[in-house]
Amino acid sequence: MSTLITNIRQLVWTENEHSRLQRVPGKEMHTIPSLENAWLRMENGIIKGFGTMDSIQDTIHDTEVINAKGKIVLPAWTDSHTHLVFAATREQEFVDKIKGLTYEEISRRGGGILNSAAKMQDIDEQELFEMSVRRLEEAISLGTAAIEIKSGYGLSTDSELKMLRVIRRLKELNKIPVKASFLAAHSYPMEYRSNHDAYIRLIIDEMLPRVAGEGLADYIDVFCEQGFFSVDETDRILQAGAKYGLKPKIHANQLYRSGGVQIGVQHNAVSVDHLESMGQEEIDCLAGSNTIPTLLPGAAFFLAMHYQPARMLIDANLPVAIASDYNPGTCPCLNMNTILSISCTQLKITPNEAITAQTINAAAALELQNEMGTIKVGKKASLILTKEVPSLDYLPYALGSNWIERVFI
Ligand code: NIG
Ligand code: FE
Repeated sequence: MSTLITNIRQLVWTENEHSRLQRVPGKEMHTIPSLENAWLRMENGIIKGFGTMDSIQDTIHDTEVINAKGKIVLPAWTDSHTHLVFAATREQEFVDKIKGLTYEEISRRGGGILNSAAKMQDIDEQELFEMSVRRLEEAISLGTAAIEIKSGYGLSTDSELKMLRVIRRLKELNKIPVKASFLAAHSYPMEYRSNHDAYIRLIIDEMLPRVAGEGLADYIDVFCEQGFFSVDETDRILQAGAKYGLKPKIHANQLYRSGGVQIGVQHNAVSVDHLESMGQEEIDCLAGSNTIPTLLPGAAFFLAMHYQPARMLIDANLPVAIASDYNPGTCPCLNMNTILSISCTQLKITPNEAITAQTINAAAALELQNEMGTIKVGKKASLILTKEVPSLDYLPYALGSNWIERVFI
């Protein structure tokens, strides 16, 4: 099946067939290559060609032709950090926060991650799978074409395995690429609060061999944070993961300058995510590394916390990625179009920078940059076709409007 889109007002993030773009750093994030008045042809889900309308080829038989006059085509989003598999929403904590409790206070009372873990314990795997499929389908309808999903609401061997098996079943649906991260080190279960060593041994000696044995994870994650996992504890867990070939993607520097960035970089993490609390030392550390700084402004927005220093990171020539952090506690938003608006207004980055962060750089944060994230012949035809819109800047500007006409996966 072949599809030809014609008269595209702007075809965004085009990449030459011979280029080998791996990530887009600093200033380059703003200079998005694009074509005006363009066409694009795709066949069996792969981009086969594109160009300006004066170079359009004759249509072959059996081609669906879509006239995109006044409309924009851009690469669909990669959401490189989510907790999409969870058993129950947590709107009660949302209300508690409105009344004045902090995220840490809620966590100390057994709310937060432990609340989600208690619900995870009880839910049947099939039910968990079905609710997760519905969320995945919603994300796709909003333009997400690849996603990372973490465990971390299990916190016991059986429950972590249940989550990871559900993620594997989501992968096997083959709707979009799904990457799994093993995050047993998300919080200490109540019974291990005063015996961290015992929980870390449980992760290393019991969970990891089974997770790796069943091939259930692509990455290993740790919530490296004051009150959660220390730098030394993170170090131990990442070392153990490395023995099974699991690369790190970690939660770092959300609440404090906890040393998460440095330990992530030391372990050659694919990405360090959150980064609300940063100083020059962390930025210098990232600048000398391959680790992608991933910002999650949806969580800072929902918790009404201070935002990530996106401008400083971009000025340091770093390839910034942006993801949703979709989860029931700190960001119940899986809509990457909303995240795009929050990024521009709150991180004070340009629409072009935010689009680059949510496409090619986010794809790089999942090691998918060679198959998606730009409009390139041979890459997946995972695209967003907008409705008629006045300009590319309109997309983040039109906060809350649905400007998507169709998502191609
Ligand atoms: O990325 N920060 C740690 N983990 C999640 C929140 C998890 C939760 O509250 O359920 C996050 O924000
Ligand atoms: Fe997270």
